[in-house]
Amino acid sequence: MSNAPHYDIDVPAFWADPYPDLARMRKQAPIAFVPQLGSTVFTRRDDIFSQERRIDVFSSHQPAGLMNVLMGHNMMRKDGEAHMSERAAMFPAVSPRTVRDIWVRQFQAHADRILAELAPIGRADLCKAFALPLSAECLKDVTGLTNMRFEDMDAWSQAMIDGIANYTGNQEIEARCHAATAGIDAAIDDMIPVVRKHPDSSILSVLLAAGQPMQSIRANIKLAISGGQNEPRDAIAGTVWALLTHPGQLALVRAGQTKWLDVFEEYARWIAPIGMSPRRVAKPWWFGGVDFEPGDRVFFMFGSANRDEACFSAPDRFDITRDTAKSIAFGAGPHYCAGAFASRAMVADVALPTIFARLKGLRLDSSEPVRIGGWAFRGLLNLPVTWEAG
Ligand code: HEM
Repeated sequence: MSNAPHYDIDVPAFWADPYPDLARMRKQAPIAFVPQLGSTVFTRRDDIFSQERRIDVFSSHQPAGLMNVLMGHNMMRKDGEAHMSERAAMFPAVSPRTVRDIWVRQFQAHADRILAELAPIGRADLCKAFALPLSAECLKDVTGLTNMRFEDMDAWSQAMIDGIANYTGNQEIEARCHAATAGIDAAIDDMIPVVRKHPDSSILSVLLAAGQPMQSIRANIKLAISGGQNEPRDAIAGTVWALLTHPGQLALVRAGQTKWLDVFEEYARWIAPIGMSPRRVAKPWWFGGVDFEPGDRVFFMFGSANRDEACFSAPDRFDITRDTAKSIAFGAGPHYCAGAFASRAMVADVALPTIFARLKGLRLDSSEPVRIGGWAFRGLLNLPVTWEAG
């Protein structure tokens, strides 16, 4: 049991807006035990940056964890060579070159098609009408599960996320997670003969070609789905909202004074779509005045790290001109997001320029408030907008 100072949170309030508590923790108790989360949380950016690399202490290996039990043993729950070999096998599907040569064109085609249908309508919830289907269609291509419906991609991703956070053992949540993983397994089974006959750059195809065991292929595709749908979806909707609520900054990008990529990187710093990553303590350790014991659960709070005033001035301000080099929105260690290049292309090269070019006069629909929530995963829940139809 860690001897870190205790910090209590009100869970619903933390879900609605975790940033005031995280700021207090950074100041008063940067490594704190939060009883309501049953975890010791790291909130300062430089502590996370240095300690995430200590995989001998802060291990990803959690054999009895819900993710392993429900989704299979994937690379994100492994350390060292076992992790790196699976990561290397997936790399050809998500490398900068594959993103540039293959995916970006396909991502653009999806965005064009979705917006061509949307443009004449003149109003929509952009979360549901654009960000969700675009993220899901792109992920279908990247995973190789082009036989799935985009609605299932989103729903099954969410069902797995809910399943792995189901610490109270709610049977309905567990059943929905099992249905999702069964659906994904069926989609994989259908696609195996297709990509064996016509190999492509998808995760399924490259993992098969690399001779990875089937169990591990299934687990890593489920990982890509649980970790690759919400985040680009939330980043697309979030960046559009951030620009519409900061018109001066939108003007800067439109004038070519900053890049769409700066918008994405600053949004992911400001509101990290993945707010935390869990670890299990593997050996006795001392850091920052705190003793850690084997078995302790630790959360690295990326959402807090990215608002650390020691690294970012006025960290609560959305400012696309700032230097985001110290942002750890994609992680800080060996588990650095495998989908980072694909996400940058999807949001910065495709979604943002296409939306602002196609939907003229885009503005928030003031008849309905924008809602936002979450701390482990954080994003907009709706984005009501209008534009000039046609
Ligand atoms: C805005 C979009 C995204 C964000 C902010 C994001 C963020 C993250 C973060 C924070 C981690 C954990 C890093 C750590 O623990 O150090 C991660 C891991 C991972 N992400 Fe993403 N992600 C995004 C999109 C994607 C996409 C589209 C895919 C799939 C194509 C993907 C696949 C993965 C995989 C496979 C891992 C595990 C890597 C490993 O264990 O080595 N992510 N991501």
